[in-house]
Amino acid sequence: MFTELPLLPADPILGLSAAYHADTNPDKVDLGVGVYKTEQGNTPILGCVKQAEAELFKTEASKVYTPPAGIPGANRAAAALAFGEDHAVIHDQRLATIQTPGGSGALRAAAELIAKARPDATVWVSTPTWGNHIPLLSSAGLTLKEYPYYDFSLQRIDFDGMLNTLNQAGKDDLVLLHACCHNPSGADLTESQWQQLTALASERGFTPFIDLAYQGFGDGIAEDAYGVRLMADTLPELILAMSFSKNLGLYRERTGSLNIVAPSATAASANLSQMLSITRGLYSMPPAHGSSLVDIIYHNQTLHAQWLQELADMRERISGLRQQLVSALNHQQQHTDFSFIAEQRGMFSFLGLNESQVTRLKSEFSVYMTDNSRINIAGVNSRNLEYLAQSVCQVLR
Ligand code: LMR
Repeated sequence: MFTELPLLPADPILGLSAAYHADTNPDKVDLGVGVYKTEQGNTPILGCVKQAEAELFKTEASKVYTPPAGIPGANRAAAALAFGEDHAVIHDQRLATIQTPGGSGALRAAAELIAKARPDATVWVSTPTWGNHIPLLSSAGLTLKEYPYYDFSLQRIDFDGMLNTLNQAGKDDLVLLHACCHNPSGADLTESQWQQLTALASERGFTPFIDLAYQGFGDGIAEDAYGVRLMADTLPELILAMSFSKNLGLYRERTGSLNIVAPSATAASANLSQMLSITRGLYSMPPAHGSSLVDIIYHNQTLHAQWLQELADMRERISGLRQQLVSALNHQQQHTDFSFIAEQRGMFSFLGLNESQVTRLKSEFSVYMTDNSRINIAGVNSRNLEYLAQSVCQVLR
């Protein structure tokens, strides 16, 4: 049996780390996988997480299974972060929340739920979108179509193109949206664009399927949830997948949350039972460690405040790096104005290079990024900034 399976290429994002680590060039630059890095190039454990772990070590009395929906306090924290403490969907019990193994686990469980509820649904995804969205959703058997999102020539959102295409979405369709810090483009919808999109969802009847993987990396917790909260205020249904990988730095702890906003409390309970049946079939119950930390940090005033500060520090460092990168790139060459990078949000932006230029950056300069020239801005630091800008200029010549 196992002689029949061919060797697959490495994952286009995760495979970059192995290639980077194998490179012996001392000047190598890693702008690949989306993990936060300090000026020293490390991804440290947040101080609030370390303290919550110390607390957990003292208080955790058993490793018995978590309830199938996960740790109740973590689910309450996730819902409050996404929708706001007193949101009507929480108050009216129209929200069903389960803890998932990372944001990917939430996306996959949501895809299974959609396949059960609407097997013929089309899920519309942005062009471009996170490299794992399409494989992950289509592996649940969903039909996907693309809507235009980022205009590479103008380095901004093609909002008219997006609206025109989504005008074809029907009432059984879903539209996958990035709540903030669009991965891979860094180009986010404005408040007014969220309002227009919400009006379109209301008119056409499609269901928003929102991915909130970078809450707090754009402009702040509430600011980054603007679209989620607006849609939950206005629309009868939505799906929200959340990740704590980035904003709590819990990457390997696989800490995420799936939230279904339903038209009634009865429908929310039914969907909760369906989600639990799906996840029982996929992985039984979620891992506990990361979500225990979410629970502790969210509900402890001091740790919560410390987390918000640490999150603000990460956000501000990235925003400063965006400015520095624009200055360095624009100083080195006149071919392209890179100012758009400073206007974008979150970890990623496109340099706008073609695949052969990206390949040259890797092979000649040991500068690593995904083939579509997406860069992880957090991988830039004062030691590699000039080298990076010079290398990019070389391939632009
Ligand atoms: C990324 O986009 O680089 C991250 O979300 C990591 C991943 O799993 O792809």
